[in-house]
Amino acid sequence: MRQFILYASKAVTSPDFSLDDLPGSGGRMDLVARCICNALWISHALRRDTCIHVVACGSPCPPVVISFYGDRLRGVSPDERNIAAWIKKVLAGKRKNPGIRIRRIGFPQLIEELASEGTFFYILDEKGQAISDVELKEDPVFVLGDHLGMPRNEEEFVARFEHEKISLGSISYLASQCITVLHYELDEKT
Ligand SMILES: C[S@@+](CC[C@H](N)C(=O)[O-])C[C@H]1O[C@@H](n2cnc3c(N)ncnc32)[C@H](O)[C@@H]1O
Repeated sequence: MRQFILYASKAVTSPDFSLDDLPGSGGRMDLVARCICNALWISHALRRDTCIHVVACGSPCPPVVISFYGDRLRGVSPDERNIAAWIKKVLAGKRKNPGIRIRRIGFPQLIEELASEGTFFYILDEKGQAISDVELKEDPVFVLGDHLGMPRNEEEFVARFEHEKISLGSISYLASQCITVLHYELDEKT
């Protein structure tokens, strides 16, 4: 299984955000939805072997981990508005989807949980080891920051466990673009 963790420092933790203003009103929920889309969708299909965990750390009641699982997702389309609408419904407790899980846990708990399963973490960092020089392990978990990057404390926390910092080059890409590149790298090798 491929897993992505997005540390979303401003992502809202209540359903009170507007679908008409995803970038502005709700702590960059556009960025969150775009990362989920790039993690899970290819043309006309879902990536059944992938999940993405969004660690939402914005107001009003952080943290919340929102996980989307490609093997269980039902009735969601890949546009940002539809993905955000599902986050809103699930946060409100109004709808359930077997492929979406919301938990009131934080980044450290998520990392510890995955580490206890023997996970190897790849921290995405422009200054890391070039990905072309790295033999990616099976069942990789990639950790990415949002538009503000990964906070130092969180990065240091992941670094307590088995990990490597990897770079896609010196250009700073959008987190969603990094996800597409990582999938491409893995797709090419399988
Ligand atoms: C828009 S970037 C963050 C930019 C932010 N100003 C910073 O300095 O971290 C979002 C995230 O994508 C990942 N990222 C972006 N470009 C990358 C690259 N060339 N190599 C590795 N990771 C990258 C990093 O995890 C980063 O935290």
